[in-house]
Amino acid sequence: MTRCLFVSSPGTEIGKTLVTASLAHQLRGANARILKPVVSGYEPETAAESDPGLILAAQDRAVGEAAVAEIAPWRFRTPVAPDLAARIEGKAMTAAEIAAFCMKAAEGADFLVVEGAGGIMAPIAERETFLDVLALTRWPVLLVAGSYLGTLSHIFTAVETIRGRGLTVAGIVISESVEKSQAIPELLRSIAAFLPELPVCVVPRLAGPRPWALAPPMTQFLVGKSSSGVAPKAPAEI
Ligand SMILES: Nc1ncnc2c1ncn2[C@@H]1O[C@H](COP(=O)(O)OP(=O)(O)OP(=O)(O)O)[C@@H](O)[C@H]1O
Ligand SMILES: [Mg+2]
Repeated sequence: MTRCLFVSSPGTEIGKTLVTASLAHQLRGANARILKPVVSGYEPETAAESDPGLILAAQDRAVGEAAVAEIAPWRFRTPVAPDLAARIEGKAMTAAEIAAFCMKAAEGADFLVVEGAGGIMAPIAERETFLDVLALTRWPVLLVAGSYLGTLSHIFTAVETIRGRGLTVAGIVISESVEKSQAIPELLRSIAAFLPELPVCVVPRLAGPRPWALAPPMTQFLVGKSSSGVAPKAPAEI
């Protein structure tokens, strides 16, 4: 039985990799697989700065091409949405292929954490988004949100969208994604008013070469019971 978590967000550049790398760091020593199956804007020359590179570093693993390929099989140089990057580079992937890769990679693992690419409905193929991967896997979603003006509407929209497909939100992480953040206590108050059932964690503004080592504990989202109020249609474990 593998405990699974899909790290997603309402949009891009919000803190998913910081949260995924923090979870990877906190799960060192556990039998865990941390994956970033689709990555665009990936340049092998600067692999260490890429999402898979940061995830490997957070696990104290060397950032080599083989290790990157193992956790991120769909890599595109073009820094655009995955479906467009794939089209430009003459490649393609489907929700079923991404789901199958992750399930296979997680065989025998106790924990699986998967970082999406872009926002929750970032297109991955002509008529598929990451939600279609989730429709197949039923993984609970850890929603990483920013601290910018307008984030509340983005959070509530994303939660409605995820639940609208019968999927579970495991919790929300507010990442202080911008220097001039909205007042965090006010954001928390609003989230508690609209979504009282959801656990929330705050990742403050972190700096330094290993910010993931400074983040608050987040493994509770993997082991805690779902509290979204929506029963998943199939077990979240694989
Ligand atoms: N809490 C935070 N403290 C400091 N910097 C942050 C924080 N949250 C996000 N950032 C910064 O914002 C940028 C985007 O973060 P990150 O790469 O984790 O986003 P992402 O959601 O994974 O983006 P993508 O959709 O491209 O995968 C990074 O430079 C990251 O360091
Ligand atoms: Mg990322």
